[in-house]
Amino acid sequence: MERPTVRSYSIRGSRITVAQRQAKTALQIVHGIEFKQEVIDLKAIFPRANKVIMEIGFGMGEATAIIAKNHPENAYIAVDVHPPGIGKLLSRIDEDKLANVKVIEDDVHVVLEHMITDHALDGIHLYFPDPWPKKKHNKRRIVNEGFLKLIHPKLKKGGFIHIATDWVPYAVSIQEVFSNSDLFTGGVIPKPEWRPVTRFEDQGIDKDHAVNDMYYVAQ
Ligand SMILES: C[S@@+](CC[C@H](N)C(=O)[O-])C[C@H]1O[C@@H](n2cnc3c(N)ncnc32)[C@H](O)[C@@H]1O
Repeated sequence: MERPTVRSYSIRGSRITVAQRQAKTALQIVHGIEFKQEVIDLKAIFPRANKVIMEIGFGMGEATAIIAKNHPENAYIAVDVHPPGIGKLLSRIDEDKLANVKVIEDDVHVVLEHMITDHALDGIHLYFPDPWPKKKHNKRRIVNEGFLKLIHPKLKKGGFIHIATDWVPYAVSIQEVFSNSDLFTGGVIPKPEWRPVTRFEDQGIDKDHAVNDMYYVAQ
């Protein structure tokens, strides 16, 4: 797969703090996996993992670190494109001595296509994907038919994707995309107590946004 021409993220200013930049420089080699057009051996990287879960778009990584800390039996591949957040999550991994998280800095479309073998993932976390609320930007939303076709083969049969959004029109569109596909079954669920409130979610709650959690299982 080529890098998508319609990006699901915006190139934000490079306002990275000194600490985040230093963490990136020092820790990416320790807790990161460099993007390469080469499949990675998840069994070799996480030999004792019960489940291997990919988190797409972790932002500043606070929820990622909490989930990984609370579930040492699982392994987490955290993918994002945003350098300050990469630096921040790398620091959290180091401070909390988390041995079950690896970070990949790139567009998840190319990461999935090139680095992840079929049936390698037990699950995917997609928390508060950019909502792209303007109609002319809706095509940038990451959850679309092509995304379902991309993730489905990477999940084990019975593997899951757990999505949360605070943007109701996006929740409606996500449910439509899944119900128009026979690759997954599932729907809206109550917020699981183990999912921490994320930074982006917090901002949505301040604006009285309703949060929807959705859970779909690969057929
Ligand atoms: C709205 S933020 C939410 C961050 C975090 N999950 C939270 O809830 O606070 C969405 C994140 O997804 C990332 N993102 C969007 N499209 C992506 C893509 N194609 N590949 C990797 N990361 C992506 C963005 O860089 C951003 O950090």
